[in-house]
Amino acid sequence: MANEPFTPEEKKVFLASQPELSKAQFDAIAEFIQSNVGIKMPEQKQIMVQSRLLSRLKALKMSNFDDYIAYVFAGGPQSDEEIALMINVITTNLTNFFREKQHFEYMTEKALPELAELGYKDVNIWSAGCSSGEEPYTLSIVMQEFMRTKPNTISGYSVLATDISSNVLGKAMNAVYPMESVADLSMELKKRYFLKSKDKENPLVRVKPELRSKVEFQRLNFMDSSYPIKGEKQIIFCRNVLIYFDKPTQEAVIRKLISHLVPGGYLFLGHSETIFGMDLPLKTVAPTSFKKI
Ligand SMILES: C[S@@+](CC[C@H](N)C(=O)[O-])C[C@H]1O[C@@H](n2cnc3c(N)ncnc32)[C@H](O)[C@@H]1O
Repeated sequence: MANEPFTPEEKKVFLASQPELSKAQFDAIAEFIQSNVGIKMPEQKQIMVQSRLLSRLKALKMSNFDDYIAYVFAGGPQSDEEIALMINVITTNLTNFFREKQHFEYMTEKALPELAELGYKDVNIWSAGCSSGEEPYTLSIVMQEFMRTKPNTISGYSVLATDISSNVLGKAMNAVYPMESVADLSMELKKRYFLKSKDKENPLVRVKPELRSKVEFQRLNFMDSSYPIKGEKQIIFCRNVLIYFDKPTQEAVIRKLISHLVPGGYLFLGHSETIFGMDLPLKTVAPTSFKKI
């Protein structure tokens, strides 16, 4: 492809000139990541891990992975700090505003009117695995729009947004995005919910304070034995995260998530994630959309 940074041949030369991650080193990292973050690390990920960790070697002025592995697994505060940075570079954080928009349509057309009918004046939402914030801010827009267009139903809401990566949480809290990330939103929504930078060279938008003030961020690892979050939720989004975990881990994570969901509350998963074969108190209401029984 014309805009690929490297041809396959150039890529080979580039990789050959970089420190190489051996199979044994990859296995050590893969095992650590799978048991501490949950992410499956099959052999095919070796090159991806090698190239993502190069930025850490560079930052630490190290020339080989032996030194890096010794440093990261040494134990102590320095090692803990590096583990967090290693998790930041290894996790995949791809996301965007109104990603898989059918979930937000379902929310507006079915879930919120039903929750209002059940007497909920306040709706508490959890974006679990929120990445750089586009999903929780989308949820904040959806709630504002619902309350604006259907007054006297729901009058308040909160969004809790959690992720393991401190890096993406920092970006999410900053709430600044390239202008093109909102290109698919209507002019109305852009005007209502985003501030525009004046810089023509590097056009940016910032989520308006009234949306930001409704979203609270917290670092949370799905591998923890329980999730220390406040209050019950009526809606949980956990999308495009479980796909990286093995089946038993997926089921355990969903079970812990929905222990914070009220009966009749909704869980939304990513488009390729399923609860098939799991024994969970959930009923499918739409594709990858579930209601707690
Ligand atoms: C691909 S993004 C999905 C973002 C958003 N939910 C969406 O669908 O657009 C996956 C996110 O899950 C987070 N993640 C991966 N493993 C995690 C874990 N063990 N605990 C909490 N978050 C994790 C990553 O840091 C990343 O930000």
